[in-house]
Amino acid sequence: MKTLVFKNNDQMPALGLGTWKSEPGEVYSAVKIAIQEGYRHIDCAPIYGNEKEVGQALSECIKEGLVTREELWLTSKLWNDAHAETDVVPALQQTLQDLQTDYLDLYLIHWPVAIHKGAQFPLSGSDFVALTEIPLTETWSGMETCANLGLTRHIGVSNFGIKALQTVMADCTIAPEANQVECHPHFQQNELLDFCRSNNIHFTSYSPLGSMDRSEAFKSDDEPSLLENKVIIGIAELHQATPAQVILSWNLHRDTSVIPKSVNQKRIKENLEAAQLELSEADMEAIAGIDSGYRMIHGAFWTPEGSPYTLEELWA
Ligand code: A2P
Repeated sequence: MKTLVFKNNDQMPALGLGTWKSEPGEVYSAVKIAIQEGYRHIDCAPIYGNEKEVGQALSECIKEGLVTREELWLTSKLWNDAHAETDVVPALQQTLQDLQTDYLDLYLIHWPVAIHKGAQFPLSGSDFVALTEIPLTETWSGMETCANLGLTRHIGVSNFGIKALQTVMADCTIAPEANQVECHPHFQQNELLDFCRSNNIHFTSYSPLGSMDRSEAFKSDDEPSLLENKVIIGIAELHQATPAQVILSWNLHRDTSVIPKSVNQKRIKENLEAAQLELSEADMEAIAGIDSGYRMIHGAFWTPEGSPYTLEELWA
């Protein structure tokens, strides 16, 4: 498995298991199957509502001798209601307890958006806290404390555009080492990827397969289907691979990491096998040509009436 190498030589397996939308009741077996199949990177977050179950599966795999903690790469994320500097360490400690581990490999600020403590998911504009009240640099200080205490080996961000990255980078003692964002052939994020590359920030693609299992409220009628794209299907046929494998391999060929979600044994295995698929330069060029700039996770849930956030600022 290809790895992304961090400054201290820690290596993150480039292909990991996503757990967003993996329901409690199914994520336990998904994680166990994934580890049995050879996955060593699991991507988590408390807002997914399943970290306890992920933790049970991890702890059993370790007890059964399938894997050691050191062989695993565990990522989790700070939810938006714990952006105040003093809330960051306790939030991570809760995640560590749920995942049944002493440390994370990577801890990310989930969104550059703050909400009141306990609000979970904002229902109205009054649930938000403006970045002028809790600046990202304050939250980042809390993240640095987590790293300094050894609660996580690396710290980074998620859903950050260039401007938010620059804000943190201008006032930090530990620079962000990773940015996890939506990325797939319909939304290739070339400008952000270039920025991350030139600033030693590892790039992880979420929703790589189009996240068709997300809530209908977050979908639009004109959404193009990634797995049914003719170019992708053509390349898949050429290599006797599946469309999903072509998309995952495309990520690995761009030296990014990728975290496809699946709770299905056959697809969990199929996705990992994408790491063996070699794409040609012509394949990569053909896929480069289908970027339509279509963002699926548009972030409008952060901008209801009365919210201090705007989409323009969010993705700047
Ligand atoms: P399932 O969990 O039943 O396998 P994303 O990673 O972009 O969020 O996409 C996740 C969605 O894609 C889920 O609905 C998941 O379903 C489905 N999926 C995962 N792997 C594959 C695959 N290899 N082929 C087709 N669909 C897949």
